Amino acid sequence: MENIEQLIPAQTIAHRIEEMGRQISSDFQGKDVVVIGILRGCFIFMADPVGHIDLPVTVDFMEVSTYGDGKQSSGIVKIVKDFSSSITGRHVILVEDIIDTGITLNQVFEIISMKRPASITIAALLVKEGKHGVTEPIVYEGFQIPDEFVVGYGLDAAGLYRNLPYVGVIKQG
Ligand code: IMP
Ligand code: MG
Repeated sequence: MENIEQLIPAQTIAHRIEEMGRQISSDFQGKDVVVIGILRGCFIFMADPVGHIDLPVTVDFMEVSTYGDGKQSSGIVKIVKDFSSSITGRHVILVEDIIDTGITLNQVFEIISMKRPASITIAALLVKEGKHGVTEPIVYEGFQIPDEFVVGYGLDAAGLYRNLPYVGVIKQG
């Protein structure tokens, strides 16, 4: 089995996420909010900050695929499952596990904009340093990480390691 070096401990993630949840609650006070998570990587990250949002929110998901089984983005975003909530005139918080090239997020942002929400705000657990080309601001950012392929806390390598409670880097050998 491959060796995984811990990059962000579970405890550190938990603290940061609690802060993000509190910030979101205060920023969206009194607003009609729909949280849309991008599957599958968001499945753990989504539950945690949403659990700290102290507002009545609608939760929905969309599944897109860019990587296949590889470690490099294919550049083609495929919608595997679309969200089903009505978002017109509502405030959307778009939750992404990790932003690498930004291709996925830019395209999903476009798709969501077409349905005319009141606003779209991006929240991401991890952002790879100096790499992403996301055209919209990333308002809620958990951690900046080095440009390495990471796993755990929802993130996979060819379908594995999503269940790890921390974020780690696969070391060969
Ligand atoms: P982007 O389109 O290049 O920004 O990639 C975004 C998507 O690719 C994320 O939502 C993840 O699902 C996946 N991804 C990017 N980098 C990593 C990584 O280091 N580990 C696991 N998945 C990743
Ligand atoms: Mg993803």
